[in-house]
Amino acid sequence: MKLLKHWDDNNWLSSKKYIDAFCVFVSKQVRFRKDTRILDIGCGRGKIAGAFKRKFKLLNKPIGIDIIHHQDKDKDIEFKKTDIFSYLEKNKNSFDLILIKQTIHFFNPTQIKKLLRLCKNNLSSNGVMLIFSLETHRNQIPCFSLMKSRLQQGLKRDVKIQKIITKSLSGLAKNKFHFSVKIRKGKYIEMIKKRYISCLLDLSQDEIDQGIQEFKHQHKATIAFKDTLTCMKYIWA
Ligand SMILES: C[S@@+](CC[C@H](N)C(=O)[O-])C[C@H]1O[C@@H](n2cnc3c(N)ncnc32)[C@H](O)[C@@H]1O
Repeated sequence: MKLLKHWDDNNWLSSKKYIDAFCVFVSKQVRFRKDTRILDIGCGRGKIAGAFKRKFKLLNKPIGIDIIHHQDKDKDIEFKKTDIFSYLEKNKNSFDLILIKQTIHFFNPTQIKKLLRLCKNNLSSNGVMLIFSLETHRNQIPCFSLMKSRLQQGLKRDVKIQKIITKSLSGLAKNKFHFSVKIRKGKYIEMIKKRYISCLLDLSQDEIDQGIQEFKHQHKATIAFKDTLTCMKYIWA
């Protein structure tokens, strides 16, 4: 499997503005207390979970799990590069919040069902699980044509994943997180070159190069769009 290494590498996804807006959104879904325990599955650099620790003055560092060990991880998380299934099977301390942000699509349907069952078992009473994925309809992520068709394939798969989640977790509430992005075309092209999003991982270097040429002609110097996520919220009651 090709790894996603440059997702939030110095772009809007790691900006203070984005993380602050995300914290505000999550704080409307979850009541944070000082002793709230958090697990972030597919935490990447852990900037979001680290921001929860600082913003809500949490006593415990959130636990962040990922298959990539970034050098510039957030200092306010306890990072584990481990298999999430064996971690959840062995874990003894329940979590008040389990966050799965833009990560569930890396698992196949059988794994997703298992992951959700294990997450449920690892939630405290009234604990909350938040699963975020890209908006599947009218998604505005800027793309060249091949990237767009790969993204659409991924989004079709995400619709199926959302059905699995709905079947597996009863009483789900759905919400949207919107963030307005303004980015220079050159900066976004750098992100494409680094294959910042999963739909770029399997393209050949020629396909990326041709896509960038197409992209350069299609877009103005500044690109504005809405980065919208669907949030599925489950409360263990
Ligand atoms: C799109 S990024 C999202 C990162 C972070 N949640 C965020 O929203 O900023 C997806 C993350 O999932 C991680 N990932 C992929 N497969 C995984 C697995 N089997 N277990 C844990 N993390 C995984 C990737 O390494 C990557 O850091």
